[in-house]
Amino acid sequence: MKPKVFIARPVPPEVESYIAQHCRYSKWAHHDPISHEELVKELADAEGLLTAGGRVSADLLNHAPRLRAVSTMSVGYNNFDLDAMKARNIIGTNTPGVLDDTVADLIFALMLAAARRVTELDSYVKQGQWKKGEGDRLFGVDVHHKKLGIIGMGRIGEAVAKRARFGFGMEIMYYNRHRKPEAERKLEAEYRELKDLLRHSDFIVLMTPLTPETRHMIGQAEFALMKSTAVFVNASRGQTVDEEALTRALQERTIFAAGLDVFEREPVQPSNPLLSLPNVVTLPHIGSATKQTRDEMAMVAAENLVAALQGQTPPHVIPELRQDS
Ligand code: DGY
Repeated sequence: MKPKVFIARPVPPEVESYIAQHCRYSKWAHHDPISHEELVKELADAEGLLTAGGRVSADLLNHAPRLRAVSTMSVGYNNFDLDAMKARNIIGTNTPGVLDDTVADLIFALMLAAARRVTELDSYVKQGQWKKGEGDRLFGVDVHHKKLGIIGMGRIGEAVAKRARFGFGMEIMYYNRHRKPEAERKLEAEYRELKDLLRHSDFIVLMTPLTPETRHMIGQAEFALMKSTAVFVNASRGQTVDEEALTRALQERTIFAAGLDVFEREPVQPSNPLLSLPNVVTLPHIGSATKQTRDEMAMVAAENLVAALQGQTPPHVIPELRQDS
């Protein structure tokens, strides 16, 4: 008999057809996320779960006695309890690769928008505030030929570096758990210790995955090291940054601006003080959100899930859950 899977997020019809060829399935057809209670019901007899960054906790696994594989339509898997999955020998997969250029484009959009005050000045024009003789009031900071510091030089970091180096003539520095000699050669990127990178960068892009080690890795001490003209961009996970410290740095103008695709609490609350600051560009966690890329991510995730349930090694097993890890 075909294995039973639950699809917890709407997927394109071709992805659903692919799953139907290999599995029996039920699905959540709404755009609002499924509740814990509904998910628990659906997982009572499911062997596979297709999710999009949803929480997979030890408690959820206790309600899913037959579960063998969880596949997320995202590169991030910080919502998975990896120890609990390991203890149950549950295969976990993600979708690295297909989204790199799309996320790198968005990071560049945030860098440009924050540096040149695009959203702030868009409102200024639309609200009829544009007058002659503005002098230096509308000045921003340059992007081209500046120093870019990338924290987390994975594939997305490299895609950002490529745009920066070869499109904008920027100088690339990076900080990563491991040195990347190939990136250093290809992108003329220079490895720097974190503090050094923070002191010398004009643009700081945070792309590190969220782990216990990276939670709040950028806080008051780190913002204090940045230049007063620095632009800070976070497109990783909100919890990698101490948001109160970021808010203070922006309010006190100890850094120039920030571009944020992610927040400590999502959806961001209207009362979040970051939202009332002119020098922040905010987006609703849309790094990979183009139709083409999200469709490809859904197909990659479905292929991972089917492979896992058929007893093959899926193309993208989460590194911490690989047999050899
Ligand atoms: C991911 O895939 O983890 C991204 O954050 C989604 O945009």
